[in-house]
Amino acid sequence: MPDAPFELHAKLEALNPGGSIKDRPARAIMRRAIDAGLVSRGTVVIESSSGNLAIGLAQVCAYLGLRFICVVDPKTTAPNVAILRAFGADVDVVEQPDPATGEYLPARLERVRQLRAEHRHSFWPNQYANTDNPLAHRQTMQEIVDACDGRVDYLFCTVSTFGTLRGCAEQVRALGLATRIVAVDAVGSVIFGGAAARRLIPGHGAATRPGLFRDGLADRVVHVSDRDCVAGCRALVRREAILAGGSSGAAVMAVHRLRDEIPSGARCAVILPDRGERYLETIYCDAWVRERFGEIPELPAPASAAVPMC
Ligand SMILES: Cc1ncc(COP(=O)(O)O)c(C=O)c1O
Repeated sequence: MPDAPFELHAKLEALNPGGSIKDRPARAIMRRAIDAGLVSRGTVVIESSSGNLAIGLAQVCAYLGLRFICVVDPKTTAPNVAILRAFGADVDVVEQPDPATGEYLPARLERVRQLRAEHRHSFWPNQYANTDNPLAHRQTMQEIVDACDGRVDYLFCTVSTFGTLRGCAEQVRALGLATRIVAVDAVGSVIFGGAAARRLIPGHGAATRPGLFRDGLADRVVHVSDRDCVAGCRALVRREAILAGGSSGAAVMAVHRLRDEIPSGARCAVILPDRGERYLETIYCDAWVRERFGEIPELPAPASAAVPMC
């Protein structure tokens, strides 16, 4: 972009075969489990996930000829359930939230425990605590560093399990780079503290702090509201013709917020975690957006110039 004060490179995780950043941890977790003898022919893979990890695992299990039972809840979108079934996964729907908290997550984890007790030879990837998740993302960072000729001044990374950020941060340290890491979280997520609140956009954010969380890995934290995610997504399509998912809009919004602090000439990278087709009935549906936000939100005009993208 002619008026960009800094470079901004985007890593499009949508281009992975399963359409998201989760292909990599899904494959790495399964590969390590096979190598460790935890998974073999006849193992039933059981996980609670309604989004991208589920699709990544469904894909890997289809390839390996393993049965995959995916525990979801009624909030899981119809397209995601259809994709899981198309990959041959068994979709197990938990209909009632946990009576104590009103949340579905504890109820889904309880269902995972039940299913594991029913299947003698089962494996639970446990993406929120499995260290093979961040380990897989050291490669994500390496690819960014290689594509940026060894210099990345800022990395914008959305968070949920903390796998991507932790893996990228660990690789930055291992390489001795000075990259500043900006964590992009959802308003209403508790990963960095604060009170849990209702969130509409799936992907980034978490209702409980993940086991993979480590203090001190992020240099900055930016919280983005659902409304601003939509604005970021819509701007990404309009200005760059990239149809990406909700967390990508959050990442774009975080860059936008920091744009007047980023030194001119800095080389920034932003990870765009998934594709937009899974959000056609929400973020990219004008009626859905108007019903929730009253109008189609737009990226606010920056103090200096237009959002730089290159
Ligand atoms: C769309 C999307 N964005 C961001 C994230 C956050 O990545 P991580 O779980 O590695 O923190 C996820 C995780 O599921 C995701 O699906």
